[in-house]
Amino acid sequence: MKTIFVTGGAGFIGSALIRLLIAQTDWRIVNIDKLTYAGNLESLAGLASEPRHVFSRSDICDRAALEALFLEHRPAGVIHLAAESHVDRSIHGPGDFIDTNIGGTYTLLEAARTYWSGLAGASKSAFRFHHVSTDEVFGSLGETGLFVEDSPYQPNSPYSASKAASDHLVRAWHHTYGLPTLITNCSNNYGPCQFPEKLIPLMIHHALTGKPLPIYGKGDNVRDWLYVDDHAAALRLVFERGSVGDTYNIGGHNEKTNLEVVDTLCALLDEMQPRGDGRKYAQQKISVADRPGHDKRYAIDATKIQRELGWKPRETFESGLGKTVQWYLENESWVAHVVSGEYRRWMDQNYGDRA
Ligand code: NAD
Ligand code: DAU
Repeated sequence: MKTIFVTGGAGFIGSALIRLLIAQTDWRIVNIDKLTYAGNLESLAGLASEPRHVFSRSDICDRAALEALFLEHRPAGVIHLAAESHVDRSIHGPGDFIDTNIGGTYTLLEAARTYWSGLAGASKSAFRFHHVSTDEVFGSLGETGLFVEDSPYQPNSPYSASKAASDHLVRAWHHTYGLPTLITNCSNNYGPCQFPEKLIPLMIHHALTGKPLPIYGKGDNVRDWLYVDDHAAALRLVFERGSVGDTYNIGGHNEKTNLEVVDTLCALLDEMQPRGDGRKYAQQKISVADRPGHDKRYAIDATKIQRELGWKPRETFESGLGKTVQWYLENESWVAHVVSGEYRRWMDQNYGDRA
C-alpha cells in the first residue's frame, strides 16, 4: 500500500483532500500538522478510527521530526499544504508566516531531498513533492485579464510574499537538485470546515448569531471562488499525472465582488433559515475600514490543467454555495466548538497524546 504525506491535513483544504484520498484511493495518508489555531481534527472526525489515516502532530520547521517521519513511513510523495493562510493575520503579525511558509517549506524540502536522494530505481523516479500555493503570489489584477502560469510574481501582503518565496524555493530545489516537484496556484476556496475568520464562514456565522457583517471598504474587490472538493480533485490529478517541474493554475471561473458574495449568502439564508423577526439578513451588513494593501481583483485562467489533465470544476458558484450554507446549518456545532475553543478539548479526548 502506497503511503503519502499530507502536511496541513487538519486545516480546511488539507482535511478535504484527506477525505477525498481516503474515499477514492487505497493510499495510507500520514497527516503532518502542528495543530495551530487553524488545525482542527474535528474536520476529520469521520476518520478517527480509519487505519489508513495516520496523524502526527509535528511542525514542518522541525527537521529532526520530519526526517524521522520519512524514515519511518517511506512515503511515495508529499502534498504540502501546511501554512499560515490568513491575510489579515499576516498584516498584524507576519513572523509566523515567515517561519512556517518560508522556513517550514525550506525544512520540508531539505528533509524530502535527503530521503529522496537515498531512494533508487522506480521509487526514486516516481517520488513527487507537490507544493500547494495560491493565486495571490501574482498580485492584483485591474478590470481585465487573468493570471496564467507564467504571470509575473508580484505579491502584496506578508502572506502572499511568504507563499511566493516558498514557490521560488520549490522551483529552485527542482532546478538545482532535481527534486521532482509540482506547484499548484489556486484561487479562493470555500466549503465545509473553513475556519470562521475567512469571508464566507465568517459571514454565515455572524448572520446566524445576529452580529454585523463587516464589508471591507466598498466591497467591490473581486475574488474567483472554487468549491474546496473541486480543488482537492485537482490536487489529486496534478499529484498523480502532472509534469515534473511544472506549475498549474486552478480556479473556478467564478469572479464575484465581495458584496455579491455576501448578498448571495444572505439571500440563501433568508430562504433556508429565515430570521426569527422576519427581517432580511442583508440588513446586518456594515462597511468597515479597508484591509491595508487590499488586492483589487484575482482571476485564474485554468486552461492548462483543463487541457493537459482534463480537470474542470463540478460545482458552479450557486451549487457550491448552496451546499456550503447547508453544511454550516447542519453542523453549527463545528463552528460553535471553534468559537468556544471546545475543538481543542475534542482533539485531546479523541486523539489523546497525538493531538
Ligand atoms: P488552513 O489555515 O485552514 O490550514 C493550515 C493547516 O496548516 C492547519 O491545520 C495548521 O495547523 C497547519 N500548520 C500551520 N503551521 C504549521 C507548521 N509549522 N507545521 C505543520 N502544520 C502547520 O489553510 P487552508 O486554507 O486549508 O490552506 C491550505 C494551503 O492551501 C495553504 O498552503 C494555502 O496557502 C493554500 N491555499 C489556500 C487557499 C484558500 O482559499 N484557503 C487558496 C489557495 C491556496
Ligand atoms: O486567493 C487565494 C487566497 O484566498 C488564499 O491563498 C488565502 O489563504 C485565503 O485566505 C484567501 O485570501 P483572501 O484574503 O482573498 O480571503 P478572505 O476570506 O480573508 O477575504 C476574501 C475577501 O473578502 C477579501 O477581499 C477581503 C474581504 N473580507 C474578508 C473578511 C474576512 C471582507 O470584506 N470582510 C471580512 O470580514
